[in-house]
Order: sequence, then C-alpha cells, then structure tokens
Amino acid sequence: MLVCRCSGVSDRVVRRLAGEGASTVRQVAGACGAGAGCGECRRSIRDLIAAEPSAEIPVAERNDSRPAQADWNSPNPTPPPAS
Ligand code: FES
Repeated sequence: MLVCRCSGVSDRVVRRLAGEGASTVRQVAGACGAGAGCGECRRSIRDLIAAEPSAEIPVAERNDSRPAQADWNSPNPTPPPAS
C-alpha cells in the first residue's frame, strides 16, 4: 500500500525502517523521503512506526539475531550492511 504519494513510498518500506530503528517521522523522511513533502502521510507514518513490534523495545534488550540499528541521527543515514 502506498503511504507517501509525494515520494512513492510504501508501508513496507516504512515498516522496514521502523524495524531497523527509525522511531520518528523525521528519521523515516531522512531515510526514504516519506513525509518530507506535503505532510499528508505523516500520521500514517507515525501509526506504522507505533505498530512496529520492536518500536518500544530498546535494541540492547532484544534477544534475537536482527542486525544492529542504523545511525538515523547521522546526516546521511544508511542501514548497517547485511550480515
Ligand atoms: S504524501 Fe507524503 S509527503 Fe506528501
């Protein structure tokens, strides 16, 4: 399902970014552009972030094999390399 019409970003992309540690609309916008245009999709992006199972679990407390979080606060955030 298309979430952001301005940037052509789907819910799958937003869910993936949330799963990788993006916890704000700004972080999602920085990573893929969703929410950076007209803003009509920002509520949907927030809802998708909130619905991500890992959204409220600090990485240090996860007991799984997911890769480390990307540094979403860097000027040019990039996900960590696949292991
Ligand atoms: S629809 Fe997402 S910024 Fe416009």
